[in-house]
Amino acid sequence: MASPAAGGVVIVGSGLIGRSWAMLFASGGFKVKLYDIEQQQITHALENIRKEMKSLEQSGSLKGSLSAEQQLSLISGCGNLAEAVEGAMHIQECVPENLELKKRIFAQLDRIVDDRVILSSSSSCLLPSKLFTGLAHGKQCIVAHPVNPPYYVPLVELVPHPETAPATMDRTYALMRKIGQSPVRVLKEIDGFVLNRLQYAIISEAWRLVEEDIVSPNDLDLVMSDGLGMRYAFIGPLETMHLNAEGVISYCERYSEGMKRVLKTFGPVPEFSGATVKKVNEDMCMKVPDDPEQLAARRQWRDDCLMKLSILKHQMQPQ
Ligand code: NAI
Repeated sequence: MASPAAGGVVIVGSGLIGRSWAMLFASGGFKVKLYDIEQQQITHALENIRKEMKSLEQSGSLKGSLSAEQQLSLISGCGNLAEAVEGAMHIQECVPENLELKKRIFAQLDRIVDDRVILSSSSSCLLPSKLFTGLAHGKQCIVAHPVNPPYYVPLVELVPHPETAPATMDRTYALMRKIGQSPVRVLKEIDGFVLNRLQYAIISEAWRLVEEDIVSPNDLDLVMSDGLGMRYAFIGPLETMHLNAEGVISYCERYSEGMKRVLKTFGPVPEFSGATVKKVNEDMCMKVPDDPEQLAARRQWRDDCLMKLSILKHQMQPQ
């Protein structure tokens, strides 16, 4: 629970990610103000959050120690940005992924905030230095990149730009922990941050293997979902090395030659075009037709799986 004296959180942009952040901050006991350029979006977001929280409470999956009603009472809408940020301790920007738009928002915030509030962007792939260059409050700025759906996937990548003060990183880290998320400190900004660099490495090799007719698209996915993914839900690739031998040193002694031999056979960056797109798309559409209803139903199923997995992960915490 947040202390009653603590300042509140402002969400700028009440779309998919803004709503999730609002629910997470409220679950930690923080007062949340939802702002959006479209009043309709705020109304819609508040209705949507109410529905979601009630349903989570019914299924026993609501986060935090407060009831849904208590959490809902912490969230309010505000159509005036200057009013919304008054006395805030953290501002989470969640407008669409467009550099010029985000820069405009941060320039606007820069003019109205004090020297204490954290200015945090949810950007998936814009470099923090591009977003925050030239701001008077640059040392208070950071990227806090969540993973969709943030309510069930706790990772948040914290990415500084060269001017970000260490205290900004530390305070954001502590805040994320407080609301039950799992923050990681990216020590220096890099294109794609960490999560997407890993994701793209996997997608690249998956694509090459399908393109070269080594495996079908469906079987490729099965290697992940019924193979590597099973353990990656609990341990990362480096701990996998540690456990798959008598520690990392022994793993490198035993397997580094084999790894390097295989890695040298990896092909160039795929084009992601032509016949392979058709081939992958056909297999995927056999499983999940790409009309909006079927895709939405499959996403709902995925989110239900993630919710159950997050409960299991919680139960499996090492003592
Ligand atoms: P969205 O399109 O669902 O929501 C964006 C919201 O921003 C809308 O409600 C829109 O009305 C509002 N908006 C537009 N201009 C505005 C302005 N000038 N001032 C205030 N509000 C404004 O977008 P979504 O998916 O929530 O994405 C938001 C951010 O989160 C993006 O940077 C995206 O890259 C990032 N992100 C998205 C993920 C996803 O899977 N959707 C995952 C992780 C990060």
